[in-house]
Amino acid sequence: MWHRRSPAENSRPPTRAGLLRAAVALGGCAVLVLAGCHADHAQSMLHPAGPEASEIARIWWFLLAVCGTTFVVVLTLTGLAVFGRRERRTESPLGNRFIVFSGVVVTGAVLLAILLVSLRGQVALAIPESDLTIDVIGHQWWWEVRYPDENIITANEIHIPAGRPVRLRLTSGDVIHSLWIPNLNGKTDMLPDKVNLMSITANRPGTFRGQCAEFCGVQHALMRLLVHAHPPAEFDEWILERQRATDIPDTPLLQRGRAIFMKEACHNCHAIEGTSVGRRGPDLTHVGSRVELAAGVLPNTPENLAEWILHPDVLKPGNVMPPTPLEPADLQALVAYLMSLK
Ligand code: CUA
Repeated sequence: MWHRRSPAENSRPPTRAGLLRAAVALGGCAVLVLAGCHADHAQSMLHPAGPEASEIARIWWFLLAVCGTTFVVVLTLTGLAVFGRRERRTESPLGNRFIVFSGVVVTGAVLLAILLVSLRGQVALAIPESDLTIDVIGHQWWWEVRYPDENIITANEIHIPAGRPVRLRLTSGDVIHSLWIPNLNGKTDMLPDKVNLMSITANRPGTFRGQCAEFCGVQHALMRLLVHAHPPAEFDEWILERQRATDIPDTPLLQRGRAIFMKEACHNCHAIEGTSVGRRGPDLTHVGSRVELAAGVLPNTPENLAEWILHPDVLKPGNVMPPTPLEPADLQALVAYLMSLK
């Protein structure tokens, strides 16, 4: 049982043991924070992969230095006040001047420096000219990705060329979401009634992770996406590949899979170029080429896709896709058909 501390107890200076306990608690917090650092750095704002994220990282390190220094100075002065020799603790004009100097001049200078660095960052983060525009639309809980000029629609993956600024037009199909790809830029809100712009420029090829950064419902944490930055020639190839008409199923298994897709509810919500036009859920025209399923819930394998078709409510509770109970042979055909859509 704890008890309310008396005024006499409250006025007691902290003991060395108390300070030691506080230091141990702080150290524990630091270990927990560092434990969150991922070794692959694919979702880390401290490992910027482009000029936008580099600018943000610079501001972050500057703020860490300023706040860390302030923290150490304040703790040192507090320690001196608490443990310093008692006879020194008398009021003096020097002490008053010190308080005015540190409280007004130093604090003002620090805040001004932070303001100037932030304003410089704002200017540096202005959206540059770009010849590639991608529309990203947030949905509960997945990402629709459209290349309007290239006439490509995909989901939960953004493919970009490395070395070129890319303009993202962000909006939402339902509630407010926020796109955050830490290696490439900061967070930008996605609103149902307004288009927000964001620029990303990957300075090297690689795969980076993104995440919805605005609470948008029960599966907010499972609203992830991948950004694949390709070497320029590979990106052009990717575009051509996506523009190519999908193959007509040419084996009995794939034809049966396609028939199941049209017979069951799938086609009402999912579009496949040349086959169905549903727009409620992700476009599946090239679903077989994607790395993950259900906005980062599962790796895209035939087993996982089958599991997802049978139990989307279990794998991602609250999402709108209904379970589709199928005979094993029908399920196998449907999965084979969907995985063939590269
Ligand atoms: Cu979408 Cu959180």
